Amino acid sequence: MSLLLLLHGFPLDNTLWAPQVEGLSGITDVIAPDLRGFGEDARAVPEVMTMEAYARDVNGLLDDRGIDRVVLGGLSMGGYVAMAFAEAWPERLAGLLLINTRATADDEAGKRGREDTAQRALGQGMTVIARAMVPTLLSERTRQRDPALATGVEALIARQRTDAVAAASRGMATRPDRHAALASVPVPTLIVTGEHDMLMPLPTSLALQAAVPNADLVVIPGAAHLSNLEEPAAFNAAVGKFLATIR
Ligand code: MLT
Repeated sequence: MSLLLLLHGFPLDNTLWAPQVEGLSGITDVIAPDLRGFGEDARAVPEVMTMEAYARDVNGLLDDRGIDRVVLGGLSMGGYVAMAFAEAWPERLAGLLLINTRATADDEAGKRGREDTAQRALGQGMTVIARAMVPTLLSERTRQRDPALATGVEALIARQRTDAVAAASRGMATRPDRHAALASVPVPTLIVTGEHDMLMPLPTSLALQAAVPNADLVVIPGAAHLSNLEEPAAFNAAVGKFLATIR
């Protein structure tokens, strides 16, 4: 059985994957680490934490646990890290799951926005950022149907370390375009996005699909950016089907 290792997005932690740790337990073991400085990861972070540096942490985690190969999944920033990992250690992949993410680099305005986010986190703390982000992460339908989920996501963001958030934001600004690198990904790949994801609209997922040979794309109805949390049943069904093709 392939292990599934899931990497959370920004600025979240591994509790993002609670519906997968539970919902997929019958078909695979799920490992969901906190990226450096997030959640319960107490490690220090440099001023700029690149996607390659997170990927090195993931590689070290596989070494520490004696795991040769995994199906690696990542949501949004977690997807950027998964793509960096795929470029550096393709032989350690049994499959790749790219969720609500994209292979493009930031443009100049995007890079300035990253520095602004870093400064706001360090200067104002996470409460303001958390409140502003929730409407961009969850669809209107999710927020109306499940206000407790929206409150939970806000609290999840609000409790993240400001230095880790600033380092990640600055790190994302440095990431390269990875479309060309993905052309030589040698493993089955599933791309998942949400119907209402404003941060990664469908064309970015279609471009990702075009870049990876034979990748499948699943669009989760009703979900926005946190598709795994908003529509866990549909999400888990798509991932379960994908994992069955790998075994
Ligand atoms: C994320 O969810 O990880 C972020 O939206 C990624 C980004 O800001 O590019």
